Amino acid sequence: MCGAFVRPPVPFVRFLPTAPGVTASPSPTTIAAAAAAIAVAAWRSARRRRQSAERLAAATLESLLNAIDANDAETGAHVRRVADYALVLAEAAGLPSARRREVERVALFHDVGKIHEALFDLVHDDDGLSPQEREAIATHPKRGADVLAPLCAFYPELPDGVVAHHERWDGGGYPNGLRGIDIPLAARIVAIADTFDAVTHARRYRAGSDPERGARVIQEGSGRQFDPSLAALFLSPPVFAEIRRRMEASARAEARERTAPANPRPRTRGRVSRGERRARQRETPVPNVSFRWRPAVAARR
Ligand SMILES: [Fe+2]
Repeated sequence: MCGAFVRPPVPFVRFLPTAPGVTASPSPTTIAAAAAAIAVAAWRSARRRRQSAERLAAATLESLLNAIDANDAETGAHVRRVADYALVLAEAAGLPSARRREVERVALFHDVGKIHEALFDLVHDDDGLSPQEREAIATHPKRGADVLAPLCAFYPELPDGVVAHHERWDGGGYPNGLRGIDIPLAARIVAIADTFDAVTHARRYRAGSDPERGARVIQEGSGRQFDPSLAALFLSPPVFAEIRRRMEASARAEARERTAPANPRPRTRGRVSRGERRARQRETPVPNVSFRWRPAVAARR
């Protein structure tokens, strides 16, 4: 539960002489001291407001991540693994802490566009996709950037990184056909981590491949799909050993979670075919929820 944020009082500054009978103007020293005290109080107040706004922005991201989990636990687990791998690569690339946090945010929200209602059934369709449906799926980077656009005052890198995570080093990606270092660095890092997880992690319709196969896919895409220097770094022995360790740790954690009776993993909606899911939706009664705006809307009709 959120704790109430209590803003400390702004320090009261007394700077004019108040003794009875004192009529002389304040000295220049007194005025300067008072001005300095007011400036400090204003700076502290502005800092508190900024910190409060930053906490609110971070909480908004956390809530959005919870919403992704609630909507689809598989995607929630995927983006966390991608963030884990992306952070290993970002650290190996020597990025400072603030840039690593940017990479982490882009990784965590790179697929947020897939929660869009228009794509949900397609993303979880076990029956294969038509070319038109694949085209629809390819809109998810742009949809994700649109979802995140209101937060760009706090996280300017986020929409730009998310929209670019399917761009390719050779310019053949989407949605904007960016090429080389025109692609934001966070997106280039996430593209490698995302592909590695897509290859190595089991899907409902196929088993996951071993890390060596994942490494071959990254090697084959180097200079075409992926930034060659980042791909080489990812495949360097110490970095790849760490990636493999993280991958195995996450597989063990997921296995424990699946078998833990006290905390069963919520069943994702995607484990059933589209037809079956729609049939279930038809059977589910509409929840009896009254929103406060409804009477007002009804009265206007
Ligand atoms: Fe994606």
